[in-house]
This record gives sequence, structure tokens and C-alpha cells, in this order.
Amino acid sequence: MSTTTTDLMQDEVKALARERGAVILAHNYQVPEIQDVADYVGDSLGLSREAAATDAEAIVFCGVHFMAETAAILSPEKTVLIPDLDAGCSLAASITAEQLREWKAANPGAVVVSYVNTTAEVKAETDYCCTSGNARGVIEAIPADKEILFLPDMYLGIWLERVTGRKLNIWLGECHVHAGIRPADIERWQADAPDAELLVHPECGCASQCMAFGNGRTHILSTEGMIDFAKSSPKQRFLVATETGILHRLSKEAPRKRFEAVSERAICKFMKMITLEKLRDSLRDWKHVVTVEPEVAERARGAIERMVAIS
Ligand code: 13P
Ligand code: SF4
Repeated sequence: MSTTTTDLMQDEVKALARERGAVILAHNYQVPEIQDVADYVGDSLGLSREAAATDAEAIVFCGVHFMAETAAILSPEKTVLIPDLDAGCSLAASITAEQLREWKAANPGAVVVSYVNTTAEVKAETDYCCTSGNARGVIEAIPADKEILFLPDMYLGIWLERVTGRKLNIWLGECHVHAGIRPADIERWQADAPDAELLVHPECGCASQCMAFGNGRTHILSTEGMIDFAKSSPKQRFLVATETGILHRLSKEAPRKRFEAVSERAICKFMKMITLEKLRDSLRDWKHVVTVEPEVAERARGAIERMVAIS
């Protein structure tokens, strides 16, 4: 097999990471060449756990900004780098700390549960963080008589109400990528692929309707939940309703199975801002360092540690 430019740059990245004592963490939505060079690829929960546990001196976060911030809060003694500072998240941008303070003031005594897709300032106003991988466990850990403010993703919130039977006050935010996966996308695929299992991320605009299918072939899962499910399922064909970057990981982990995106449009431009070249430059030039104000980090840490502890 001939050596390509990608291979050469991946070798350069690995050598720089070794030299600099850095671990490379990558989200399941990253481009294949980044996933392939990472030390750990996973979902938001797995990446937070890995960031908290690593003994490397530095973490290069191939994901979006709130994920790098979370790593910086969990490991204040480590250097956290992100290869592109513009890798944001439209969902995290849908609520500010000021808006949350106003919402809390209007609902005194309520417990605040924030999805990990939020800024550090919002987390600092939060009681419990959660990810799609443990949101249900987090809600179930809160005493039944407590009112809950859930933010910022409304589709995840609606799904949580259904699976926990709890009434939640839900912030009306959404991820433009997942909200764009509509019930019609699923219906089309249901008809065209009657033999396939349907894997749906709870941020999707179609998630609640999918639950209503109740056909045993529909599974609402976090990105890592999808990987685990596909690996252990005896089924051969899977339709996937989330950002398309996950198809690379799925095909790698379960190579003899067939995976198809229900929507080819489900591409997160923020996740795709991280390129191999920017990762190389990040390690070489030690940029861009992600820091969180110590006072904000201190207040956010408790909510994140509760999230990491609950499965
Ligand atoms: P998970 O990896 O936690 O399932 O989250 C998906 C997501 O949209 C992250 O931005
Ligand atoms: Fe944010 Fe949506 Fe992109 Fe995830 S897929 S990082 S929630 S914009």
C-alpha cells in the first residue's frame, strides 16, 4: 500500500503528540482521518471521563469548544488545546448564563439540569450536567418532588419526559443538525428498509415520533450507545439518525455490518472545522489553549463531576 499525504501527516501528528506528552481525544462526529489518529474516540460522556482520568500532561480536544472547556474544568492542572477556536455549537449558543439566571429567578427552588452542550458560564449556574448517554439516570437521581429546569435541548427534554414519566420545564433550544432530521426522513426509511434497525439520537427532531413507533426496531441512543448496540446486535443492517461522522466509527467497530444515514444533510459544520492539518499545527505551535475563569470553573465543576459519576 502506498504512503499518502494523510498517512504522513498522521505520523507527524502522532510523533508530535508523543514528544509533547499530549493525548488526542476525538468525538464520534470527527472526520475519519482525525478519528484514526486519536488515542480515544467517543461520545461526550466518554470523552469527559477520559479527560478526567488521563495522566497525560496535555489534552488536544478534537471536538467542539464546550467539550474542551469541560476537559479544562475537570483537569485544571493540564493544558487543553483545541485545533480551531471557531468550532462552536449552535445548541450551546441557544442559552446564556444571564437567561438561565432569569429562568431560575422565575422558578425558585427548582433543580437545574443542563445538557453538557452548554458554555462553562451556564454550567456554573447548574446543579447537574448530563449527556445523552446518562440524561435518564441523572433525572431519575433527582427526588421526585423537585421541580426540574431542563436545558437547552427541547427534543432531548421531550424524550426524557416520556422515558422517565417526569414533567420537566424545558428550554426551547435545538441543535440545527439534529432538529433537521425530520419524521419524514424516518418514514421514508422505515418503508424502504423493513429489515433494518433504526438508531436515533435523542436530539433529533424526529425522536419523539420514533418512540411512538414502538416496533422493537427503533432505538433512541447516544452516539456511543449506537456503537455498543450495533456491535452486540445480531442484526446486519442499521439506519442511523445522527451526524454522519459516526458512520466511520460504526463501520470500523462492526466491519461486517451495513450502516446508512437517514439524512445525508446531517453534517455539523463545527465538528468538521477540525482538520488533520489544524491538529498538526495545534500540537506544533501549542494552540489554541482553552481556559476557564477559575471562579466559573469552580462553580461548574460540581455539576460536571455529578454527571461523570452517574451512568
Ligand atoms: P453524544 O456524543 O453525547 O451522544 O452527543 C452528541 C452531540 O451532539 C455532541 O455535540
Ligand atoms: Fe452542537 Fe449539534 Fe454540532 Fe452537536 S451536532 S456539536 S449539538 S451543533
